[in-house]
Amino acid sequence: MTIAEHWEAVYAEKSDEEVSWFQAEPRLSAQLIIEVCNDRTARIIDVGGGSSRLVEQLLDAGFNHLAVLDISRVALDRARTRMGDRSAMVQWQVADVSQVKEIGQFDVWHDRATYHFLTEASDRLRYAELVERTVPSGGHIIIAAFAPNGPSTCSGLEVCRYDARSLAQELGPAFRCEREVVDQHVTPSGRIQPFTFARFRRL
Ligand SMILES: C[S@@+](CC[C@H](N)C(=O)[O-])C[C@H]1O[C@@H](n2cnc3c(N)ncnc32)[C@H](O)[C@@H]1O
Repeated sequence: MTIAEHWEAVYAEKSDEEVSWFQAEPRLSAQLIIEVCNDRTARIIDVGGGSSRLVEQLLDAGFNHLAVLDISRVALDRARTRMGDRSAMVQWQVADVSQVKEIGQFDVWHDRATYHFLTEASDRLRYAELVERTVPSGGHIIIAAFAPNGPSTCSGLEVCRYDARSLAQELGPAFRCEREVVDQHVTPSGRIQPFTFARFRRL
């Protein structure tokens, strides 16, 4: 099974409330974006956004240049269906973030729980190169990944775990870490999953 097939099957088989990463309101993600974006015309992309409600929270906050990228078309279709007419205000991209060459230019890159699935160093390098091409100098990158004491697998796949320092090492010298938050995510079944949220400035 390919990675794309894996994720299509996950979203086809499970409802939003049945997946461990579900959040009714992605408050911390929205907060970390809003803190650095007074300008509501900022271009924001949610990478590996799946069917997350973050995009609705950002529309509610007044942002109007939004995109969601995910390897799963089923996940994006679910979000679009939920949002109805409002989905036309968002650009939707089906792509593998470790392979795609260009996705446009964005002032804010947000990724919750996608980067940590890149267990091959070559995939992580291409991801960092894509961030460099996508986010101009002065822009912001927010990555949320399982913390060092978080789970070692998610959705049946191995993950890599990070603190802000190890994320900074992976991204390289074009990025400076400006904020780190450790978050205790509570899954729908009540388990606690420690996450590292790190926000970087593109130098
Ligand atoms: C754990 S889920 C998190 C979804 C969303 N970010 C959230 O917080 O609700 C991981 C997401 O990453 C997507 N994904 C996994 N590998 C990917 C890749 N290589 N390129 C793009 N998306 C990917 C999956 O389809 C899934 O939607």
